[in-house]
Amino acid sequence: MGEPLVELVGVEHRYRAGRAEVPALGPLDLRVDPGEFLVVVGPSGSGKSTLLRLVGGFERPTAGEARVLGGTPVAGRDVGTVFQQPRLFPWQTVGGNIATALRWAGVPRADRPRRTRELLDQVGLADLAPRRTWEVSGGQQQRVAIARALAARPRLLLMDEPFAALDALTRERLQEDVRSLTDGERGVVFVTHGVDEAVFLADRVVVLSDRPGRVVLDLPVPLPRSGVPADELRGSAEFAALRGEVAGAVRAIAA
Ligand SMILES: Nc1ncnc2c1ncn2[C@@H]1O[C@H](COP(=O)(O)OP(=O)(O)OP(=O)(O)O)[C@@H](O)[C@H]1O
Ligand SMILES: [Mg+2]
Repeated sequence: MGEPLVELVGVEHRYRAGRAEVPALGPLDLRVDPGEFLVVVGPSGSGKSTLLRLVGGFERPTAGEARVLGGTPVAGRDVGTVFQQPRLFPWQTVGGNIATALRWAGVPRADRPRRTRELLDQVGLADLAPRRTWEVSGGQQQRVAIARALAARPRLLLMDEPFAALDALTRERLQEDVRSLTDGERGVVFVTHGVDEAVFLADRVVVLSDRPGRVVLDLPVPLPRSGVPADELRGSAEFAALRGEVAGAVRAIAA
């Protein structure tokens, strides 16, 4: 199985708000292995984005230890991130944002225009390459951010409700694309409110409690990752049973 991509041991995080401290997350232990697609579900404010910020190296845990790719997480290194809000390079065009990510990923210059077209096509934005990022809609900006993260092919990809602003059809298409991102080496940690989305994407779903978020359910999702059409999978009895289990845990938190 190799070294874990993510290993959180006794991790807690509190924010300072003036004089007060806001306990946001934990204590929790969490491990993500190479090839795993982990989906984190939890109520608003339960610390899901905080969890991703700790793994991405944008925050340090107030207690416990976070190890990512075998070391202390460093923002921007080896880990790809799609935030809740798209954060594009505003001085570049839509296509330029993708080309830059390809350059960082070591894709040879000669291959970048074709790869840029393929990636924009994948997120349904083929025609928008020459536009400035402020000349496209919020949902389109988010799709550029997703294409940029895919371009980098990082060993670990962190996605924070990346599809929240998208229409249902685009969302389903991108869910299918993202689902195939993990392989033997690469892993994904994906945050969502959607129970259906979680079960469809995950090999494992973790449900967090109300703030400060702790793990209340850690459920393997043994659905086939290839060979079964998405509609068939979503309609299967196995899918319904898993969805029921996750939804039950989410309801228990709200109760
Ligand atoms: N910079 C900050 N300073 C103080 N408190 C913060 C800060 N960021 C987040 N919090 C608080 O920490 C808790 C966890 O926030 P976080 O953004 O991780 O939640 P979340 O699960 O991602 O919520 P949502 O589903 O709404 O995105 C919340 O109560 C939030 O108000
Ligand atoms: Mg959040």
